[in-house]
Amino acid sequence: MIVGVLTGGGDCPGLNPAIRAVALSALDAGDTVVGFRDGWKGVQDNLTVPIDRGWLEGLIDEGGTKLGTSRTNPMRSEDTMEAVLRNFRGNSLDALVAIGGDDTLSVAAELSRRGLPVVGVPKTMDNDVPETDYCIGFDSAVNIVTHAIDGLRTTTRSHHRVMVLEVMGRHAGWVAGLGGVAGGADYILLPEVEPDLDALCSQLDGLRGRGRDYAIVVAAEGVQLGEAAPTGRTDAFGHVQLAERAVGETVAQVIEERLGWETRSVVLGHLQRGGAPTAFDRVLASRYGLAAMERVHSGSFGGMVSIRGWEIRTVPLESIAGRTKTLDPKFIEQTRLLTGASMSA
Ligand code: F6P
Repeated sequence: MIVGVLTGGGDCPGLNPAIRAVALSALDAGDTVVGFRDGWKGVQDNLTVPIDRGWLEGLIDEGGTKLGTSRTNPMRSEDTMEAVLRNFRGNSLDALVAIGGDDTLSVAAELSRRGLPVVGVPKTMDNDVPETDYCIGFDSAVNIVTHAIDGLRTTTRSHHRVMVLEVMGRHAGWVAGLGGVAGGADYILLPEVEPDLDALCSQLDGLRGRGRDYAIVVAAEGVQLGEAAPTGRTDAFGHVQLAERAVGETVAQVIEERLGWETRSVVLGHLQRGGAPTAFDRVLASRYGLAAMERVHSGSFGGMVSIRGWEIRTVPLESIAGRTKTLDPKFIEQTRLLTGASMSA
């Protein structure tokens, strides 16, 4: 077979181990592997790279994606979709493995609707792709956020300040929630919950009243604050660039003004998508890659590999397009308890 592979959307640790597993499985079966550069842009503009065993050397622990990525959306016009279909045929592909988040996978779903043999693999540090417990990159991001809070605690405590850490998460607070709890944050603002700055300030004030002289707040970038207006800059899929909304800094200013407590803010930004994948992400990505190739070799197309517990299964690409998996409501409740617990300083 001739098997294509691409990575699309925001990068994250674990993409290279996924590419590696797809290619190892394909090469082992005697297939030819064609890598497409920079996500759907590579298929649209026919930017290919032949993948052999030498190309895969050292990929297991390498962050980012050796194939490159972009947020190119070929569905924006019929011409670009035509180019994708033409290059798909031109490369004589028998299958294409698309590794990406909801945007990348929505293009895969459309190609599948048009009869092309496509298999999806879920990746996004946001962990908001539905019908799967874990996306590639999520565990690495949570670990980075946790270590960032650990690091911020020493400087925050030394200066007796409040620190607001802004983390990624547009519609879903998976990274903010799990990272915040693991780092022992004192309050977490999630996109799923209407922000209540009165409650935030009263919690911090209560903490101070009990003798605590520092506090750490985690805020997801997607939190809807009236004060933080979007600048209007969007990507090819129409998403506003959230980092420019300065949610963390807005929250920090409110805390300092209302409580008279010196406050700083830090935007973790792309650091949480950088560096080497965790062991969990390396294994998850490797298992996803092999599972995707099992679907290819058995001629089962139009699905996304997904994980429930330990078991890898397939869900229809159609079923995930346009949906977002938000943070588990029970965990949101538990998050409140766990951050409140630190008030007994
Ligand atoms: O990958 C998803 C994401 O991490 C979002 O949480 C964030 O808003 C966005 O990417 C920013 O990425 P970039 O600056 O690369 O467009």
